[in-house]
Amino acid sequence: MTMDPSTSHRSSCEDPHPVNRAFPPRRKLQRDAETPARRVWAISDLHLAQAGGGNRDYESRRPDHLKRIGDQWRAVVQPSDLVLLPGDVSMAKTHREVQPDLRWLAGLPGRKVLSPGNHDRWFSSAAAIKSMLRTDQWAVHATAVQVGGVIVCGARSAPVPPEDPSDPSNWSAVTCRRLAELETALEQAQRLRGDHPDAPIVALWHHPPFDLHRRPGPWVEAMERAGIDWCLYGHLHTEGQWQAAPGGRIGTIRYACVAADALGFRPLKLWDWETTRPHPNPAPAQ
Ligand SMILES: [Fe+2]
Repeated sequence: MTMDPSTSHRSSCEDPHPVNRAFPPRRKLQRDAETPARRVWAISDLHLAQAGGGNRDYESRRPDHLKRIGDQWRAVVQPSDLVLLPGDVSMAKTHREVQPDLRWLAGLPGRKVLSPGNHDRWFSSAAAIKSMLRTDQWAVHATAVQVGGVIVCGARSAPVPPEDPSDPSNWSAVTCRRLAELETALEQAQRLRGDHPDAPIVALWHHPPFDLHRRPGPWVEAMERAGIDWCLYGHLHTEGQWQAAPGGRIGTIRYACVAADALGFRPLKLWDWETTRPHPNPAPAQ
């Protein structure tokens, strides 16, 4: 008996029905953090609530806010752009409830970096939600990431302490914890800048970093010490609050309130690498 030479050395463990190697294996979608983002946008306080649960900040005043956000986002943001979302992305309380909101967000163009706001109860920690995020989504909480040539850090924020915020004896346990989490994020951002010295650093901090008297919370000094370039915040939902909201360059940092309703539900363009630079990195305070 003659044996087929192609099968004569096949061991009994070999699969008698081998995979057709000519057919490419199914490719897993890859995250793209490296392609430079031509333009960088920001918008917070989307207050998505597609699993139900209500949306007390918008429902009565802007029942069409979801459509407005989607339409205006698609009109300006390109797929390779970067969009930063400092908090109150979703009113969902659980990982299950937030799924339709993350799916809806993934349907919009651009790469997105999220940080938690006071309503984001689903956002338990950056590590816990990592596996839920779509390939165009990143999240920071006491962490930092580098996406599209920008270093983004952030943490769950807190309001400025009501009594003399410069005096640490007035800081609550929550204030101290949130400040410590931000400092951890800032340290990570500085380490990333070691590998990307030209990359601007943007901090996402949901609450206004200053109080109504323009007194800085303790986080402002920490951010200045770390040499960040931008601080983006939101949380404000009335016109009177937006008018008093600090913006522009204060000290070494540029601030912007990017609450969706303050922006007319249209993402704010922070910079376009082809026409404007984010501004030279300020020297860290000594
Ligand atoms: Fe909000």
